[in-house]
Amino acid sequence: MNVPKLLRCSGIAGKSLIFDEPLEAASRWSIPYVPANGDILVEVRELKKSFLHGSNLIPVLRGIDLTIRSGEMVSVVGSSGVGKSTLLHVLGTLDLPTSGTISFRGQDITRLSPARLDEFRGHQIGFVFQFHHLLPEFTALENVMMPALIQRMPSSKARRRAQELLERVGLAERMTHRPGKLSGGEQQRVALVRALMMRPSLVLADEPTGNLDTRTSQEMHELFFEFNREFGTTMLVVTHNKELSARMPRQVTMIDGRIQHDGTAAN
Ligand SMILES: Nc1ncnc2c1ncn2[C@@H]1O[C@H](COP(=O)(O)OP(=O)(O)OP(=O)(O)O)[C@@H](O)[C@H]1O
Ligand SMILES: [Mg+2]
Repeated sequence: MNVPKLLRCSGIAGKSLIFDEPLEAASRWSIPYVPANGDILVEVRELKKSFLHGSNLIPVLRGIDLTIRSGEMVSVVGSSGVGKSTLLHVLGTLDLPTSGTISFRGQDITRLSPARLDEFRGHQIGFVFQFHHLLPEFTALENVMMPALIQRMPSSKARRRAQELLERVGLAERMTHRPGKLSGGEQQRVALVRALMMRPSLVLADEPTGNLDTRTSQEMHELFFEFNREFGTTMLVVTHNKELSARMPRQVTMIDGRIQHDGTAAN
């Protein structure tokens, strides 16, 4: 089976993920943010990324310093082309930086071998993209199970976990649907729980609600907060959605490959 690289990124942590409470729509907006527990999860120093285009070297990330603590929810905003997606790709080890360091729980991941990097990514990082990247020929359930199967989790366990996650996001009746038979919002929910399948330490989301209507976007946003609250998942979310960004406890604003502002809504 030809598994796209993006799919190989969602990871598993080995522990069973049990979701036994249904989503309560009425309580969603009141879910408080769980403050970060203080441990540094990711530390980025002097991160630079340039792309060779023809004979020109194009600097895209021009020196990023960023510290993210476990449990934090951070939005990344900025105009088109400032390097937000590039930053996410490099943080998620989908792409290597040109220079600088990225430490994950104190370990410089830019120095890992390709095999170790794949393993690291598979277990620690979950990705959610604007265009979900679900595999069209597989059902919703199979798509969610896929990261676990790639990490050789027994399929009965992977199935149980994937079912719990899909039920949790209201898709119990859609498990055997292929992506083409799901609505956009349903596809995004599948993509979100696929990213959570391995219970990663860090979820990197790039415009996760970019192509959804307002109400469906809000529901997706609630799921981010809900999963952060329950599992302490650290979330870094690139978004043009002002409502989501304003709700995130920390906002990072990028301009021209650098961080212009990093703080809470209040400062
Ligand atoms: N593989 C590549 N080769 C050459 N240039 C690239 C490559 N990837 C990105 N770039 C350039 O890097 C710049 C930043 O791109 P990036 O996708 O990170 O922007 P962005 O902030 O995510 O924008 P948007 O909000 O439109 O998604 C762009 O000018 C883009 O053309
Ligand atoms: Mg982008």
